[in-house]
Formats: sequence, structure tokens, C-alpha cells
Amino acid sequence: MAKATMYFPPDFKWGCATAAHQVEGGNDKNDWWAWEQGPGHIRGGQKSGKAADWWGKGFEKDMDFAAQMHNNAHRLSVEWSRIEPQEGRWDDAALDRYRDMLKSMHGRNIEPMITLHHFTNPVWVAERGGWETPSTVPLFERFTVKVVEALKDLCDFWITINEPNVYSILGYMRNVDAHDPATPQGTFPPGKDDLKLALAVVDNMLLGHAAAYHAIHRLQEQARVGLAHHMRLFDPFRPGSLLDRWVAGNRDRIFNQVVIDAMLHGKIGRPIGLARRVRLLRNTADFIGLNYYTREYTRFDRSRADTAMFGSAVPNPQAEMSDGNYGEIYPRGLFRVLKRLGSTGKPIYITENGLPDADDDQRPCFLITHLRQVWHAINQSIPVMGYYHWSLVDNFEWAEGWDLRFGLVELDVETQERRLRRSGELYGEICQSNKIDTDLVQRYAPEMVETLFPG
Ligand code: FCB
Repeated sequence: MAKATMYFPPDFKWGCATAAHQVEGGNDKNDWWAWEQGPGHIRGGQKSGKAADWWGKGFEKDMDFAAQMHNNAHRLSVEWSRIEPQEGRWDDAALDRYRDMLKSMHGRNIEPMITLHHFTNPVWVAERGGWETPSTVPLFERFTVKVVEALKDLCDFWITINEPNVYSILGYMRNVDAHDPATPQGTFPPGKDDLKLALAVVDNMLLGHAAAYHAIHRLQEQARVGLAHHMRLFDPFRPGSLLDRWVAGNRDRIFNQVVIDAMLHGKIGRPIGLARRVRLLRNTADFIGLNYYTREYTRFDRSRADTAMFGSAVPNPQAEMSDGNYGEIYPRGLFRVLKRLGSTGKPIYITENGLPDADDDQRPCFLITHLRQVWHAINQSIPVMGYYHWSLVDNFEWAEGWDLRFGLVELDVETQERRLRRSGELYGEICQSNKIDTDLVQRYAPEMVETLFPG
């Protein structure tokens, strides 16, 4: 074993990420709240309810943990249905509450990054067709203007939209194999199954992103604006099979590449139909926000001539899986996507990365091995500027309810009691010292020492 140290750059951003509906509680004016009331929509009939009570006392408690972990950054989202509960009716008290939250973050030297849209829509927007219709674009732009005007003295770091690809696939393509076609679980509102709509939704969200990007820059010269893009690895199950490679490549283009081509080159309207170039969309990323979780093995499957485009996801028998078979733990994949994004020349922030692990037996090792890949990327001159772990605290995991626990802080939803997990202590040490060394690995994940620091 060698004694060695992996140093991170001095101005590196260390934080966690959260989303309004998953932590605030009582968000009863959005489409997710309505969806939660429907039978069979959420695993075990669970509901977001009070969530982590961020609209009550929970926010301050969790920010104390973030400060205790020496975080210097945090990604949170604002809830459109609180700020504009009815069309054109603005709730200034909600904006004031967000102002207080931002001030309280600054008071702890935690720099906020704000997401404007993280999966939820006000019910009135959903009723008008949500992102199926381009008429939502100007509504989102108007909302963006309102938020930026109200908060711009407290934040200049913005994510327009979170994961257009995931939003569209889970809301509009129920049969894609990650979720069992026989049950609606894993499905997002509005729970449709319509490929054409799925593609329109992505395009409209990208247009919404472009409109918001320009609106923010008009209001705030120094703003840094990006989109949080979920990227996965799609590897052929049998690397020697041309057909497996073909389906894996297709999935990669649709899931990963479409959004990148849109933000950088203004291309939309693919993969079905002709691409069109939208000038306003071109170069609308001051940085790329990367959400990375896992990889999927893909194999050619003649029976899947439907929206799966002849591909089936197959489990990798060798893989270590996280709770609930959420996905393979594959740290190298983080380096592979960072390298790919590095070729764009844009700064990169890892805006989400984490795993469900209720008993916290995998998370310490997950953190160390993933951050090692980040370090490796930085050493290859890939401009990774920050890392936001998903998530600060256990929260409402959409259609999976409360079964999947992603927090560095453990939450008892009933009593609202919290406890810092051991992985939270580890993350705190990394954020404070800005490095990972042999001693730290020895204490938190001794089984990794020889692999990470071979003699
Ligand atoms: C991402 C979402 C985030 C959370 C994590 C686990 O796709 O952006 O809200 O649910 O997955």
C-alpha cells in the first residue's frame, strides 16, 4: 500500500442537491401532488406529505448539517406552483420565503445554485397541456423573469430545467424496460404512452430552456446558466455483437446526445424526423450540469419493435447493485461521461450523483470511488468545477416514494428526526480538507485501500 493524496482544486464547489417537491412538503398545487392521490401511482400508496418539512423547520436543520459537512455550495429548486399558484397570480410571500432561505445559506457560506424547473408543474400549467405544448414556453419564461427579478441579489447561478430526457421518458413512455410494463410504478405524471408526445415534450422543454437562458442573461449580466442533464452509460451486453452495439448506440443518442446537441448547436427535432436548427437555442450553456447515476447493459431484442427500438436492458450479473435494484454502481462511468463532456470545452458541474442506500453500507465506498474518478478527470484537464451529491437528506423519491433513501442525513419522516450518516461524516472530511488520502480511505472504506493506492 502506498501513502498518497488526491487533491482537488482550491476553488472546487462541494455541495449537495435537492428539489423542492422532494423536500418542502405540502406542495399541493402541483401535478405531482395530484398524481400522488391516484391509486397505484406511488409505490405502496406513499405520499410526499410533509416531506423533509423544508417549508417548516426542516430547512434550517438540514442547512446546519450542510454546514457541519463544510459544504460551500448547495443546489436547490424553487417550486413554480408556490410562486404562481394560479395563472398570473404571484405569491410574494413564497418569494420572500425563498429569499430567507438563500440568505440563511449565505450566512453559512453556502453558495446557492437554483433550479427553476425540477419535474413539477403547477396544476394550471398541466391542465393547459404542460410541456406537450409550446405555449408553456412563454409561461415558463415569464415565471423565470419573476424569480430572477426577486432573487437576483442573492443568486447568480442557475439551472433552467432538470433532466428533460428523464421527465419525458417516465411521463410519456411507460413501456421502456427500466420499469415493469405491467405496473405503472416508476411512472411520472401524466402517465401517457406516446412516442410522438415524448419527443415533443423534450423539444418544448429545450425551447423553454433557451427562453429562460436568455431571459436570465438579460436580467443579470454575470449570471451563469446551464441545464442539468442526466447521462447514463449504455454498453452492449455482448460487446462483440453488432446488433447489441447498434441498439446501445441508439439509446445513447436518444438519451444522452439529443440534449447536448440542442444546448450546443441548437439542433432539435431528432431522432425521428428531420433535425431543425433553432438559433435561440444555440450555445445556451455557460456550463454543463451533469447528473450521473449508473449504466445499463443493452441487448438486441427482436420482440421489442416498439418504443424500445429493439433494445432490452439486461442486468449485469457481475455488477454491484444499489438498494431496490436501482442501478449498477459503476464509478468508471462517471469518468467516461466527464471525458465525453470535456470535449465540448464547457465547464462541468456534477449537479447530481448518489445512490439509494438506507443502511449506508455502500455509500462511503461509492463516494470515494466516484470522487476518485472526478479527480482523475480533473488531472486530465477536464474542467470539472464542482460536485453536488444527491442528496443532502432522505427525501420523497417520486414514484418510488420513501423506499429509496439517498440522504447523507437520515430522516425519520414521521418524527422529522435526523441523524448524520457515516457517509456524511466522510463527505464532511473530504469537503473540509479538499482531498482524499490513504488515511481517510483506511478509516471509511478499508477494503478499497489496495485498489486505490497500490504499492
Ligand atoms: C434524478 C432526479 C432527482 C432524484 C434522483 C435520484 O433523476 O433528478 O430528483 O430523484 O434522480
